[in-house]
Amino acid sequence: MKYRRKIILLLLLLLLLWILHRQHRFSTKKLQGTYRCWSVDTQSKELKLSDWFFPSKSMNLTNTSWSAPIVWEGTFDEEVLEKYYAKHKITVGLTVFAVGRYIDHYLKKFISSADMFFMAGHKVIIYVLIDDLSRMPWIQLSRLRTIKVFEIKREKRWQDISMMRMKTISEHVVNHIQYEVDFLFCMDVDQIFIGKYGLETLGESVAQLHAYWYKEDPKEVPYERNESSEAYIPIGMGDFYYHAAVFGGTPIQVLDIARECLKGIMNDKKNSIEAVWHDESHLNKYFFLHKPTKLLSPEYCWDYGRMNGLYYPNIKLYWAVKDYKNLRVIT
Ligand SMILES: *[C@@H]1O[C@H](CO)[C@@H](O)[C@H](O)[C@H]1NC(C)=O
Ligand SMILES: *[C@@H]1O[C@H](CO)[C@@H](O)[C@H](O)[C@H]1NC(C)=O
Ligand SMILES: *[C@@H]1O[C@H](CO)[C@@H](O)[C@H](O)[C@H]1NC(C)=O
Repeated sequence: MKYRRKIILLLLLLLLLWILHRQHRFSTKKLQGTYRCWSVDTQSKELKLSDWFFPSKSMNLTNTSWSAPIVWEGTFDEEVLEKYYAKHKITVGLTVFAVGRYIDHYLKKFISSADMFFMAGHKVIIYVLIDDLSRMPWIQLSRLRTIKVFEIKREKRWQDISMMRMKTISEHVVNHIQYEVDFLFCMDVDQIFIGKYGLETLGESVAQLHAYWYKEDPKEVPYERNESSEAYIPIGMGDFYYHAAVFGGTPIQVLDIARECLKGIMNDKKNSIEAVWHDESHLNKYFFLHKPTKLLSPEYCWDYGRMNGLYYPNIKLYWAVKDYKNLRVIT
């Protein structure tokens, strides 16, 4: 009697497993079908560089030796880009770190200017990483903008704050950012947007030409030159000097950048060496080994304090006045 009950139970269980298995197989097939349709659909409409990028012959620095575009005002057709992304809706993420006195000095201006100029008309999530939640300013954002605030641990030295950024970025990309946005930018907080910073800046892996060095021969730029550092770039090598105040790409690409830079930084720490420009040196090493797919002209990160007689009428983002003496003291 007892045996028979057990056998019936077992048979029922097997039946259940079989049903589940069938259902599972069925649903996978359905998913595959949908996926195929979707990928065919997007491939046919993929935006090509030649659809929107039109550098004129007289313009310098619009192309790299590996054929990545260098985006300047006047090289792109905004209308084509807007039309394309009206059909292919995207969300763009923007991470910004605010610690110590940087919070009160810069955060509000950075966010309210981003609200106005960064990806205007498109969905944006601003990720604020802050070491004191109670000092997060209240900022009224416009439509299509969301802000997410996270508390981070305090580091003692500003060099460590700047280097540990890579660790925090990678953790947040893994945990949630990769599911929430199509493209991600990481920016320094001590900057202010003053012009449209739009779709022309989006790409798989985006690097920013440094305003001080973009015309310089790579022999002259401040790469790390000590062979003991992971950030080492031999004299005569390298393409451009990139600014760590702005970098971006797809979330997976940003994750790779952050992880590789962090690896270099940690190995250097183990060997008691610190690269000359900290995380920026490691970022330059990364982009030396893995060429960015898009470069942004200095108009996308300008310094009015060091213009050297140069005038660009279409600055989109500039460095706020820096007061390192007071600000780099951690309170
Ligand atoms: C391009 O570079 C050349 C040589 O450096 C310079 O003479 C010329 O003025 C530059 N043109 C522009 C538009 O900046
Ligand atoms: C960019 O440079 C590469 C290599 O120097 C060249 O083959 C390519 O035609 C250039 N593209 C444009 C758009 O100028
Ligand atoms: C490179 O860094 C190591 C470790 O800090 C140091 O001992 C060495 O002298 C440096 N080499 C040069 C050429 O500066």
